[in-house]
Amino acid sequence: MISVIADGRWGRRIVDFWRERVQNQVITWGARTPAFAAELANDMQNVRVATYADAIGAHSVIVVAIPIQDLLPWARAHAASLKGKVIVDMSFPLTNECLTLYGWHTSGTEQLQKTLPASRVVGMKGPFLRALAGGWHGDRGSIYVTSDDDDAKTQALKLLCGSDDQLIDAGKLEENRAIDRISSMG
Ligand SMILES: NC(=O)c1ccc[n+]([C@@H]2O[C@H](COP(=O)([O-])OP(=O)(O)OC[C@H]3O[C@@H](n4cnc5c(N)ncnc54)[C@H](OP(=O)(O)O)[C@@H]3O)[C@@H](O)[C@H]2O)c1
Repeated sequence: MISVIADGRWGRRIVDFWRERVQNQVITWGARTPAFAAELANDMQNVRVATYADAIGAHSVIVVAIPIQDLLPWARAHAASLKGKVIVDMSFPLTNECLTLYGWHTSGTEQLQKTLPASRVVGMKGPFLRALAGGWHGDRGSIYVTSDDDDAKTQALKLLCGSDDQLIDAGKLEENRAIDRISSMG
């Protein structure tokens, strides 16, 4: 199934997002301090807490929820074990600083793919997902799925195929430049 990396505010919401959708499968939740994450996951039936290294090893699809400025160094450090994996980036720039971190001619998701050339990065985003930042769990909406690797994108789309979400194949990673900006306004 999938591993989710990091147990910060966004990581917790991402785990909830996936728990609602894959109720019969186990999610591995990788944390820098597994004991703390284990407390958070105490009443979660289908979540197993692990170290980052164990979580990466557990599944072929890895969802990352580390702030972008820390994510790229983290990805560099774990590049060997992330080789061949599908890396799902659901992060959004939350501030003007994040939006301009890499200038207007790229996106964090593209930078993640450049940092991990032997992995296959998939962007999974949209205003509906961005609303989760405020703890919103209302009606489902559009999720824009992007990748430079068609097979990785198909795998990511399949993960959500039983859900009520409106899944949109939004093309290549480059589209995240627009998707991030539109989502940030949502
Ligand atoms: N907060 C939201 O609701 C929200 C909404 C939309 C998007 N996002 C995006 O999600 C990302 C994470 O934001 P957040 O709010 O969850 O931040 P956060 O609460 O500060 O959590 C950051 C998480 O990343 C881990 N981390 C940070 N630096 C690390 C490093 N160098 N190596 C390994 N792990 C590291 C932290 O581990 P430790 O706890 O061990 O330090 C923590 O689990 C950002 O890109 C943000 O734009 C967040």
